Amino acid sequence: MSKPLVLFVDDEENVLNSAKKQLLEDEIEVLTTTDPFCALEILQKKNVTVIVVDNIMPLMKGIELLFKARSVSPETVRIMLTGYVDVNSVMEAVNIGAVYKFIVKPWEQEELKSAVLDGIYRYEMVHKLRDASEDQILELAQIIELRDPYTHGHCERVAEYALLLSDALSLDPGVRNEIKYGAWLHDCGKLGVPENILNKRDLLTFEEMRIVRNHPVWGAEVVRLAGLSETVAQIVNYHHEKYDGSGYPVGLKGSSIPLEARIVAIADIFDSLTSERPYRRKLSFHEAIQILLKEKGIVSDPEMVEFFIYLIEKSL
Ligand SMILES: [Fe+2]
Ligand SMILES: [Fe+2]
Repeated sequence: MSKPLVLFVDDEENVLNSAKKQLLEDEIEVLTTTDPFCALEILQKKNVTVIVVDNIMPLMKGIELLFKARSVSPETVRIMLTGYVDVNSVMEAVNIGAVYKFIVKPWEQEELKSAVLDGIYRYEMVHKLRDASEDQILELAQIIELRDPYTHGHCERVAEYALLLSDALSLDPGVRNEIKYGAWLHDCGKLGVPENILNKRDLLTFEEMRIVRNHPVWGAEVVRLAGLSETVAQIVNYHHEKYDGSGYPVGLKGSSIPLEARIVAIADIFDSLTSERPYRRKLSFHEAIQILLKEKGIVSDPEMVEFFIYLIEKSL
């Protein structure tokens, strides 16, 4: 297999040189250019794994280059280097999936390296997911889940609960399968969340929370790039939306949240409540049901959640 190729674009030669030095490793090939147009040509000709772009360049703004990069080479993982003053506008680009990660200048060596390695990991995951068999999809979901020791077995259990509801609703077999894949992969965007954040026992800071809340968008992009169906991508994208519109990433409300995502969301919440988490103990089924009931219509679809509770109680 060929080495991952990382392309750096910055109008300052010395920034490129230090980035290159920091990343120079046998397993990575690094290309640099000061010219954004030349960068686009490279993207057209070569399989670039990760592109790292400076936001402020005289010939083209970094964000514009990354939007162009997305259409020329959608699979290339896009990272932005930015000054502190531009952080807000770059965050918006992250929220809509145009930028995978950003690094604030001046950066720590480890920060750049881990962002690039993370990008390479995401690129490889997309490739493995493409054309994966059903067993391999589950395996990949489990590998991603390993980064978070508190969620061991989570994706499989979420699929079990979601299918309990789907089967009782007699959903079409094709949709049933999409719900299964969507449930397995719903948290796959966590591959973009650093492990120290996933494993943190204390409350997350605002910045850490912002990173965690990107996981639905990151996951949906992985699923789309891997060629899975739009329904699967929507399940991943909307599994943290809430029925009253107070969820994320979009704040969709009620039935504008796709049914498949509403089903997986209920399964996800139920499994989270009944599992041990770093910040709270595991609840009993009965306690979890009380919480679902209390939050019905606010967090979850009221009809679906009542039906789910009926099915769970019947299975006890
Ligand atoms: Fe999630
Ligand atoms: Fe989850």
